[in-house]
Amino acid sequence: MVREYGRTISEGPTPADAAGAPALPYPSGWSALAFSHELRPGTVLTRPLAGRDVVLYRTATGVLRAVRPYCPHLGAHLGLAKVEGEDLTCPFHFFSFGPDGSCVRTGYGTPPPRSPLTQLPVQEANGGVFVWRHHDGRDPDWSVPRWHEIGHRPARTAAWELAGNVQEVIENSVDLGHFATLHGWAKAEIDGPVAYDDAKFHVAMRAHESAPLMGDFTVDVKVDGYGLGCLHADVHTPRFGLRMCTMVMPTAIGPNRMQFRQLNRISFDEPGRLPPGLARLVSRTAARLLDRPVFRSSCEFTAADFPIWHHKQYQQPPRLASGDGPIGPFRRWAKRFYPEAPGRTAVTRPHRGEGEDSAVLS
Ligand code: FES
Ligand SMILES: [Fe+2]
Repeated sequence: MVREYGRTISEGPTPADAAGAPALPYPSGWSALAFSHELRPGTVLTRPLAGRDVVLYRTATGVLRAVRPYCPHLGAHLGLAKVEGEDLTCPFHFFSFGPDGSCVRTGYGTPPPRSPLTQLPVQEANGGVFVWRHHDGRDPDWSVPRWHEIGHRPARTAAWELAGNVQEVIENSVDLGHFATLHGWAKAEIDGPVAYDDAKFHVAMRAHESAPLMGDFTVDVKVDGYGLGCLHADVHTPRFGLRMCTMVMPTAIGPNRMQFRQLNRISFDEPGRLPPGLARLVSRTAARLLDRPVFRSSCEFTAADFPIWHHKQYQQPPRLASGDGPIGPFRRWAKRFYPEAPGRTAVTRPHRGEGEDSAVLS
């Protein structure tokens, strides 16, 4: 999202209000910091979460760990560390730490001190790596479940960084009105009330779309949300036999700043009128040929929201109107992820200078 400073000054939003304090604090729960494929054995990655670095690493046998970044010895950043077998070795004085976080070796051959790394809860699900953070320091009391892997092709992934808060990304799924206005659906209907259950919610929708040469068709969308960091959307277009499974993962990295990850898989229904072997071939060939364009189209759909999120403020209370989705109940549910009611707590933010606009990460 590159700002076009060549345009006349009266066009488009400017960053003038960006130095203001964000309206929402960091939400608690699981946040995606990486895709699983980024963390092969031996990899060390540093990722931001809620204003602090988290170091992720995977040992030679595949054990995944998330730790606070500073070495307990003299504070070197462990994003510069190396995985050696099952241990993480600090680059400064070569102290090594085992998978349980304890110091197992010094670089001097002397007895290791009893000063462990600070480990953070980490889980892998559906191709995402999630780290737990709670404002009151509690251990995880829910998790992101594993779900189906549709199709036979590897998942496609993308990540972006932009301004905004993660709640508004998740809120998007119940903002029924914007699917027609911003995304161009001819009509969107919500299928029953949104079901909230502790840290989860479920909503089903049907979209009516129309395209040149293809005419009218419907798209069935089932969305499951897990906290304010993960959405699972199953999108089925019966007319074309297309199924798309999407995982959307917004992560708060700093005040009013987020990274946004998306992972997609697709499959095509096997045509029932064909013999099984041929039906399978048709389904797989369609997936192979259309995997990339469908992913591109899905990313374009998602990216239609980016300029909105990047420049908007959190409007509380919103001035809702007939035709909006059930945003009020969603906001009441979302309060559980904050230390106190949104709008009453603000975190200070540094001045946002030029050059901090979004960048594609992968
Ligand atoms: S600072 Fe890490 S070993 Fe000394
Ligand atoms: Fe799915």
